Amino acid sequence: MVEQIRGRLLAPEARKTAPTYSTAQLAALCGVDKAHISYRITKDDLPAGRLTPAGGKRIFELSEMRSWTRAYREDKMRPAGKKAITISVGNFKGGVAKTTTSMVLAQGLSLRGHRVLAIDTDPQGSLTTLHGLLPEAEISEEMTIGPLCDGTESDIRYAIRSTYWDGIDLVAAAPFLFSAEFALPARQMQESSVEFWNVLNDGLESVRDLYDVIVIDTPPSLSYVTINALWASNGIVVPVPPSGLDFASSAQFWSLLADLGSNLDKQGKGARKKAFDFLHVLLSRVDQADPAMPAVRQWIQATYGEYTLPVEIPKTSVTSNKAAEFATVYDVQKYEGAAKTYKRAVDAYDAFVDLVEQSVVGAWHEPAGGGR
Ligand SMILES: Nc1ncnc2c1ncn2[C@@H]1O[C@H](COP(=O)(O)OP(=O)(O)O)[C@@H](O)[C@H]1O
Ligand SMILES: [Mg+2]
Repeated sequence: MVEQIRGRLLAPEARKTAPTYSTAQLAALCGVDKAHISYRITKDDLPAGRLTPAGGKRIFELSEMRSWTRAYREDKMRPAGKKAITISVGNFKGGVAKTTTSMVLAQGLSLRGHRVLAIDTDPQGSLTTLHGLLPEAEISEEMTIGPLCDGTESDIRYAIRSTYWDGIDLVAAAPFLFSAEFALPARQMQESSVEFWNVLNDGLESVRDLYDVIVIDTPPSLSYVTINALWASNGIVVPVPPSGLDFASSAQFWSLLADLGSNLDKQGKGARKKAFDFLHVLLSRVDQADPAMPAVRQWIQATYGEYTLPVEIPKTSVTSNKAAEFATVYDVQKYEGAAKTYKRAVDAYDAFVDLVEQSVVGAWHEPAGGGR
C-alpha cells in the first residue's frame, strides 16, 4: 500500500519544485527598487533571469535570486573564519508549528543568501515530508542521524542530501529513528568516553565551515535526540500558540531544560558548559478572533519579556489546507485566495526570518560568538 501511495504522490510531475520570483520580489529582498535591478542587469554580472513568452515580465529562478541576495546583502553574510550558527526549534508539545517554523526559517534564510543545512530529528519525519520526501518509503537509515547516534558514524556528512530547494541541504528522518532513543543511552553505558548529549554537536563540527545556518527540527518530547539537538545549538526558537495549555507546557520546557543543563554541565568531562547565544519565543498560529487571545498574549509577554519576538504568526488558511503537509507559504507560487490573506502571512514570516537573521548576524559579530 505504501508503495502505491508513493507512486501516486510522487509521480514525476508531482515532484516538488521551488517557486520562481518576480523582479519586485527580488528587489524587495535586495533592498533596492525595480529600476535599480533593471539597471544592474545591463552590467551583466548577475543572473538576468528570463522573460515570459508573453513578454515584459522577468522571472528569476531560486538559485538566481540567491546570487542576487548574496551580492546585495553582503554585510549580513557569514564573515570569513566564522562557523555556521545552529538553531533548534523546540517545544515539548506537538502541533505548535515547530516543523512549519523550521521549514520557513530554512527557506527564508536561504532566500536571503545563506546556505542552510536542515536536520530532521523527529522520527515522524514531518520536515522530511515538507521537502517532498516520504519518510516511510524513501528514507533509508544512512540519510538520517541514526548511524551517528548508534556510533557507526562520527561525522554527519554521510547523511547530507541536496533538496528541491537551492540552498537547503537535508538530513532526513523516518520512524526507525525511534531506535536512537535506545542507542544513545546504551552507548553512554558501554563507552565511558561518550557524552550522550554531545553526539550530534560533535558530529556537526566538520560541516560548520560548509554552511551558514543549521536548522534543527525536534520531536515533541525531551528525548535523548532533543537534548542532542539543543546541545548542538547556538540558539533556540520556541513556538508557542497563545492558548492557556500550550503556554503552561512551554513554561515547563524552560525549567526542565535549565535543570538538565546544570546536571549535564556537572557530568561533562571537559569544561564544556552549555550556553546559548539567543533564545526566542515565537507566538505561532495566533487567532486574532479568539477572545482569550489578549489575556494569553499578556501572560506570555509578562513571563518571557524580551525573549518574546516582536512578531506574531497569524493563524492562516494559506497553508492549512490539504497541501499544508507538503508546503509552506514560501512554496506558494500563486495564491488562489485573497491577496491580502497571503500578504499578511508572508509579511509575518518575513519579519520572523529577519529577526532570527539579526540574531545569527549578531552571534557572528560577538567577540566570543560564531559557534564554538
Ligand atoms: N500559522 C499557521 N496557521 C494555520 N495552521 C498552521 C500554522 N502553522 C502551522 N499550522 C498547521 O498546524 C499543524 C501543526 O504544525 P507543525 O508545524 O507540524 O507543528 P509541530 O511540528 O509542532 O507538531 C500543521 O498541520 C500545520 O500545517
Ligand atoms: Mg513537527
